[in-house]
Amino acid sequence: MSKASAWLDGRLAELMASEPYIGGESVESIAERYNLDLGRCLKLNANENLVIPRETIEDLSREALQEVDQRVYPQKETDSLRESLGGYLGVAPNTIVLGSGADQLIDHLVNAFSDQESGVLTTTPSYSFYKVRAELYCNLSVQVPLQRDFGLDVDSILSSSTNCRLCFLCSPNNPTGNQFTSASIIKIVDEFPGVVVVDEAYAEFGDYNLVKEASERDNLVVLRTFSKAFGLAGLRIGYMIGSEKLSRTFNERVQYPFCVPNFSAVLCKKMLDKIGLVSDAVSIVKEERQRVSNTLSALDGLTIFDSDANFILFNTDKEMKVVFEGLLTEGLLVRRIGEIQSLRNCLRVTVGTPAMNDRFITALTQIVGA
Ligand SMILES: Cc1ncc(COP(=O)(O)O)c(C=O)c1O
Repeated sequence: MSKASAWLDGRLAELMASEPYIGGESVESIAERYNLDLGRCLKLNANENLVIPRETIEDLSREALQEVDQRVYPQKETDSLRESLGGYLGVAPNTIVLGSGADQLIDHLVNAFSDQESGVLTTTPSYSFYKVRAELYCNLSVQVPLQRDFGLDVDSILSSSTNCRLCFLCSPNNPTGNQFTSASIIKIVDEFPGVVVVDEAYAEFGDYNLVKEASERDNLVVLRTFSKAFGLAGLRIGYMIGSEKLSRTFNERVQYPFCVPNFSAVLCKKMLDKIGLVSDAVSIVKEERQRVSNTLSALDGLTIFDSDANFILFNTDKEMKVVFEGLLTEGLLVRRIGEIQSLRNCLRVTVGTPAMNDRFITALTQIVGA
C-alpha cells in the first residue's frame, strides 16, 4: 500500500464504472468460443473493406517497408501524406490533421471542446464511441433520437444544445447506414453554439461529402479514415479537416508529436497514388450492397434498411441471438445491434466480395425461412 492507494483505488474504480467501448470481436476469439473452423470464418462485423485484395496491400507494404528508415521519427512522410490528401480532397494541406485512427481524433475533439460545463451532443443510434468518450471526460452527454426514417431531428438537436459545445453527427450513420441530407447538417452547423463534427468514415460509399465546407467554416470539422474504403484498418490512420485556424491549433497544440508511424504514412500515400484501385473496390461494394439488399428484401420476416455505407442494417422477426448464432455456424460473424426504435432484433453486416455476400445471402435465407 502506498500513500496514493486510497485515492488511486477510488479513481480507478470511477474510471472502471464508465461505459466501455465494445468493438467488433475478432474471428479468432469467436471461432474458439463457438468451436468453429477458423479457415471458414468471415469477419463481417466491423465494416472493413474486404474487397481490396490482401495481396495488393501486401505488395504495397513491402515497397513502403523498403522506403522508410524506421530509426527516424516521422516528419517528411506525414507532411507528404497531408500533401497527397490535400490533392485527393481538394483542400489545402494545412486544413488537415492526421491522427492515430479517427478514434484518436474523436478523443482529442472531446478533450479540447468539452469540460464539466460544456457537454457533448450526439444522436441515437450512432457510433457509440462519441458517448463513451464524452462520459469519460465530461458531465453532460446528450443523445437526441433520430427520426423514424433515421433522418436528423434538427429542431430537437438545436433545442437540446444549450449547454453543449460539441456535436457529433455520423453521416453515413453507423449503424443505420443512411447519409443525412446536407441541408439538415448545415442548418445544425449554422445554429449550434459550438463545434459540429461530421464523422464521414463511410463517405466514400455515399453520395456527397462536406470536406470543402469544413475547410471554409469555423465550426465544422469533418472526420475521415483509411480504415474503411481504403482497406487499411490495421494501420490506424484517420484524419480531420477543419478551418486553417482550428487545424493549426490541433496540429501544434492538441495532437501529440509523431503520432502517425512513418510506415503507415507511406503506405497510405501509396494507396492514394493508386486511387483507382480504391474507387473500383468502392464501386463493387456499392453494386453488391444493392444486390444483397434487393435479394434479401424479397424474403418474409426481414426488413432491410437502405444504406449509403459499406454495411447493411437489417431487422428480423426471429430472435437476434438465433440469427447471430445461425450465421456463426456457417462461419459468418456479423454485428449484433439490438433494439432500434422498437425494432428489437437488429443486426449489421459488412458488404464484402460477391462470393462472401453469396454465402451470407444463402445462410440468412435458410435461417429466416426455418
Ligand atoms: C463512424 C465511425 N467513425 C470512426 C470509426 C473508427 O475509425 P478508425 O478506425 O479510423 O479509428 C469507426 C469504426 O468503425 C466508425 O464506424
